[in-house]
Amino acid sequence: MRTMAADTLLSTQQVAEQLGVEKKTVLRYLHSGKLKGTRIGRDYRIAAGAVSALLDPPRQVPVAERTAIVTAVVNQKGGVGKTTTVFNLGVALHLLGRRVLLVDLDPQAALSASAGIPVAHLTISIYQALLDDTLDPIPIIRQTPSGVDVLPATLDLAAAEVELVNVTLRELVLKDLLAKLLPRYDHILIDCPPSLGLLTINALAAADRVIIPLPCEFLATRGLNLLLRTLEKVQARLNRDLKMAGILPTMFDGRTTNANEILQELRASFPGQVFDVIIKQTVRLKESPAAGLSILEYDRGHDVSRSYLQLAQEVDHA
Ligand SMILES: Nc1ncnc2c1ncn2[C@@H]1O[C@H](COP(=O)(O)OP(=O)(O)OP(=O)(O)O)[C@@H](O)[C@H]1O
Ligand SMILES: [Mg+2]
Repeated sequence: MRTMAADTLLSTQQVAEQLGVEKKTVLRYLHSGKLKGTRIGRDYRIAAGAVSALLDPPRQVPVAERTAIVTAVVNQKGGVGKTTTVFNLGVALHLLGRRVLLVDLDPQAALSASAGIPVAHLTISIYQALLDDTLDPIPIIRQTPSGVDVLPATLDLAAAEVELVNVTLRELVLKDLLAKLLPRYDHILIDCPPSLGLLTINALAAADRVIIPLPCEFLATRGLNLLLRTLEKVQARLNRDLKMAGILPTMFDGRTTNANEILQELRASFPGQVFDVIIKQTVRLKESPAAGLSILEYDRGHDVSRSYLQLAQEVDHA
């Protein structure tokens, strides 16, 4: 490479080989202006000198090549505490000093709204990035006052379930998207919609592990077996490395014997798979998102704040 004359012209394929990246990455460099080239027919001609300029001075390689752990928060049942867990666990991980990205994969965009993002005014969201793999997702990410970054959703994400159906490797679209963001973060948490549709399957295919929030109430455990079977299928067909981080008991009301019994039953039925941490029921978790805050900022001393911090420690070390 270094011995090649600076004005030697290379194709995108040759540049991809030189840089050790995929051809589509080179195309993205060209589209974003990071790399200069001249369009000739259906390809580009790129001066070898422009490629050396990308490499020289040498690319900044982080001392420790760290890449994010991706956790999907999943349950096809609605209203079980998925969004609440993604936001508060994310802020807790941030308070531990981690770089955190929250991915809103629910067209309801509750996560984005809880984090204080004015969803109604967004002109671009994860929806466009899922459907166009040449789009750089980084400008779509929003920083929040809580210290976590959010890749927001908008209502049009609902259409993605249908629009992705004809895309090649449609289950891996999110995985490809997140691959571009892995080196920037320590943790990426994905908030899933309440279904086992294509968006949730994309989350499971992209994730290293799964947290299943489960309210300690009658009927809440009913869909659990279907969810676990889905996880097994994803492990078998799409993501062999997917692990279960744990079932997270949520909305626990310790004053009722019913909640205590359900918790005991859950631990007995799924030994070793239920987190020790329990998220109690509290009105604070309804008040805090309305203020655009996590409970850790809204009421730091609250039991539930401590629980989310404890969960963050478990998740961080796992
Ligand atoms: N531990 C808790 N105690 C009391 N209320 C809670 C608790 N956790 C969540 N909530 C409230 O319950 C409702 C549902 O929670 P959340 O939105 O997190 O669930 P979800 O699983 O993301 O729902 P959906 O499936 O609709 O996306 C919200 O109003 C939330 O504020
Ligand atoms: Mg939700």
